[in-house]
Amino acid sequence: MANIESALVLQTNDLDAFWLPFTPNRAFKRAPRLIAAARGMYYFTPDGRAVVDGLAGLWCSNAGHNRDTIVAAIQQQAAELDYAAAFHFAHAKSFELASRIAALAPGDLNRVFFCNSGSEAVDTALKIALAYHNIRGEGGRTRLIGRERGYHGVGFGGISVGGIVNNRKFFGTLLAGVDHLPATYNREQQAFTKGEPQWGGHLADELERIVALHGASTIAAVIVEPMAGSTGVLPPPQGYLQRLRAICDRHGILLIFDEVITGFGRLGHAFAAERYGVTPDLLCFAKGVNSGSVPMGGVIARESVYEAFMHGPEHVIELFHGYTYSAHPLACAAGLAALDLYRDEGLFDRAKRIEPLFAEAAMKLKGLPGVLDVRTVGIAAGIDLAPRPGAPGERGYEAMDRAFHDEDLVIRIAGDTLAIAPPLIVSEAEIGEIFEKVASVIRAVA
Ligand SMILES: Cc1ncc(COP(=O)(O)O)c(C=O)c1O
Repeated sequence: MANIESALVLQTNDLDAFWLPFTPNRAFKRAPRLIAAARGMYYFTPDGRAVVDGLAGLWCSNAGHNRDTIVAAIQQQAAELDYAAAFHFAHAKSFELASRIAALAPGDLNRVFFCNSGSEAVDTALKIALAYHNIRGEGGRTRLIGRERGYHGVGFGGISVGGIVNNRKFFGTLLAGVDHLPATYNREQQAFTKGEPQWGGHLADELERIVALHGASTIAAVIVEPMAGSTGVLPPPQGYLQRLRAICDRHGILLIFDEVITGFGRLGHAFAAERYGVTPDLLCFAKGVNSGSVPMGGVIARESVYEAFMHGPEHVIELFHGYTYSAHPLACAAGLAALDLYRDEGLFDRAKRIEPLFAEAAMKLKGLPGVLDVRTVGIAAGIDLAPRPGAPGERGYEAMDRAFHDEDLVIRIAGDTLAIAPPLIVSEAEIGEIFEKVASVIRAVA
């Protein structure tokens, strides 16, 4: 605890310089929500308050915060090898981590390309998909298909295939040749469902409509989150992902799963691909790969995709893509330690085991004032609150702010939707405590 105590005495004395990401800066700087230290399920504020982390960092600290073995691995790695050139050279832990990740992935998803974030993972996957068709003589396949309400990070590729209007409308014309599947959420049909809703599998057939409109020979890839996290925890309807896979197969279209949130245990499996029995051609990961401790992302490709690139003279680069910090030694060391923790503590199975209890606790919010829907899947819950007339997002913002200041709880908001996704180490008692706090907040903002 010594370093927590020393962190607590740090004070921030000037809030002007830092332009905060995805944050209303003026409101934040008027009443900052500052975090000074963390351990396990808890954050600690500069004045020493313990705050329950109901969001696993930002859907990333799946093993909890500041786990000893991850901290030690990062410290040792920094002392031993701070950095190794990422192009033309490599270090041993990058191969070890890639092998460990490949072993967790289903089917022949077994070639791992590293980057530093979910956004980079998405752009990497989209570029691999385009290049894959190009080198196989199908360069006409340039269209990318995303989905309404999808979130794929903030790169130009990601916002182009993404389906959140505010992330798109300020940023020009985006990538050309992108189309979108409809969102899978329908409140009338799905409200208060635990797990995958029965209604909506047929929406995958919209892909056939898009293929009929553009022609399969122009389409490179379809990208979806198996569970859309950032727009409020939207689990896939039953059969939906299987139908998407079948249509992609029929038309030679690559299927990309963006598992930046669902990867590494959130849905009770290493990857959602396993939960749903659907193997994509490319799988994006980030966040949980090292429990959020060092920036890292990546793409797992099917062996056949990788092999398609392995032609031509051996001294020539096969894929003109990569980042200075691809497979950074600190991120790899942290990743290996996190995977050890996930295995030794059985955290993915634990998530599966406590899913019913988590869902039950979340559903107790039904009937509270202004609660329009509660959805759960794995260790994630989305709660839609009724927007205040003429002020969309205000009730949600106030809920997040009150949760932190009045209830000692961190939650996520997307407009008036609250999202809860604690670390997978959350105890049964803590699940109850989290949802009681959420209930108090909902009453307070009614
Ligand atoms: C599904 C998905 N893809 C991509 C991203 C972007 O990740 P990053 O913020 O690390 O760039 C996120 C972030 O939440 C995400 O949820």
